[in-house]
Amino acid sequence: MNTHTARGKFIVIEGGDGAGKSRLQHALHERLVDGGHEVVLTREPGGTELGERVRELVLAQGGVGDPLSELLLFEAARAQLAAEVIRPALKRGCVVVCDRFAASSTAYQGFGRGLGRDLVERANAIATGGLAPDMTLLLDVPVDVGLRRRAGDGGANHFDNEAVAFHERVRAGFLELARDGGDAWCVIDGSREFGDVVTVACAALERVLA
Ligand code: TYD
Repeated sequence: MNTHTARGKFIVIEGGDGAGKSRLQHALHERLVDGGHEVVLTREPGGTELGERVRELVLAQGGVGDPLSELLLFEAARAQLAAEVIRPALKRGCVVVCDRFAASSTAYQGFGRGLGRDLVERANAIATGGLAPDMTLLLDVPVDVGLRRRAGDGGANHFDNEAVAFHERVRAGFLELARDGGDAWCVIDGSREFGDVVTVACAALERVLA
């Protein structure tokens, strides 16, 4: 058992850009509320006043520039979110569903930017104080599919303009984390029909909510 979430459950949705995370988050919200759970939805970067300000900085066209500075901004936002939103909600017994968390830094800054998995995981540990998801749902889609979806929904940010090779490294990074994450990770083919994606995600959640 994850001792940090002893009462509530901490669910994270991860994946590359355009994988369909926010749509899945809203579908799960509905199912969980119908199931009688008290649910808190949040996202990274964001979810707190500080986090939303960091979001503006890191997603602006042109971005931050220095990869380590970029990482530490994400970590600052994460520390604040964990302290202000996630831990208190878990203490109240809520199911917290977060759109991205520490694994995004490992995939994007560690693998994508090349800072390395080890350095980013150390930074993650400091920011989270060891708070880890009970279940991570990884929505995996081929890079070209994700980028096409993003271009279509008009939500492109500074990360979407990175080279395809960057996004391939991010995808490979997430898959490596999932392989090492055992039962606490569920990889879902995000190019499947959305109804199927929700069914697989709900089955994984049942395992941790039971
Ligand atoms: P967002 O518009 O929320 O994209 P998405 O809908 O794909 O989640 O932008 C978040 C971007 O920030 C996304 O491209 C991934 C990136 N990111 C990192 O590089 N490191 C991180 O630690 C986090 C949380 C996000």
